[in-house]
Amino acid sequence: MHVYQAKTFSIPPLDGISEESVKQHIGLYEGYVKNFNAMSKQVAELAVEDADKYAHPVSELMRRRSFEFDGMRLHEYYFAQLEGGSTPLTINGPLAKTLAEKYSPYGIEKVMTMMGNIRGPGWAILYWDPEAKEPLMSFVGEQHQGHLVTLPIILALDVWEHSYILDYGALPAGKAKYIEAFFKNVNWGVVEERFAAYTS
Ligand SMILES: [Fe+2]
Repeated sequence: MHVYQAKTFSIPPLDGISEESVKQHIGLYEGYVKNFNAMSKQVAELAVEDADKYAHPVSELMRRRSFEFDGMRLHEYYFAQLEGGSTPLTINGPLAKTLAEKYSPYGIEKVMTMMGNIRGPGWAILYWDPEAKEPLMSFVGEQHQGHLVTLPIILALDVWEHSYILDYGALPAGKAKYIEAFFKNVNWGVVEERFAAYTS
C-alpha cells in the first residue's frame, strides 16, 4: 500500500497572509496526509479481519476517506500556487485569452471571488474541461463535495475559515479580504504551466 508523504513548500513572505497562518495551514495539510494513510491502513485491516463484523466502520471510513485525500491533494495545488512569488498572468497568453473569453466582462478574479464568498467551508475551484475546451468553476464543500469528475484543476482557492481566521477573523468581511490577498500572491506562472499541460 502506498504511504503518502507530506510535501514541503517554499513559500516566500506573502502580502496580507501571515507566516504564522501559512505555517498553521501547512500543519493542517500534513494532518490530511496522515489521516488518509491511517484510514487506508485501518480499512484494509478491518476488512481482512472480519468484513461482516466491521461492515459499518468500513463503510464510514470509505465515505470519509475522500475528505482526507482531497484535502491532501487540494492543499498541494493551493500551496504550489503560492511558491515562487507573486507573478501576473501573461498578458495575451493562452490562459489569459481563454479566461477572458469565458469570464468577460467581470474577469476571473471577480468571478472566483464571488464563488469563494459562498457560505460554508470549502473551495472555489477552476477546472479545465478538455471535452468542451473551456474552463469550468465549482464550489466544493469541505474537500470533496461538488467536484467535477475527471476535470483537472487549474486554480484552487481555499476558503475554509482556517485560511483566514488568524489574519482577518471569522466574519465574511474577513474572508473577502483574504481572497483579495490570495489573488495578490498567486504565482500565475504555476497556473499557466498546469493549463499548458492540460491543453498540449
Ligand atoms: Fe486549507
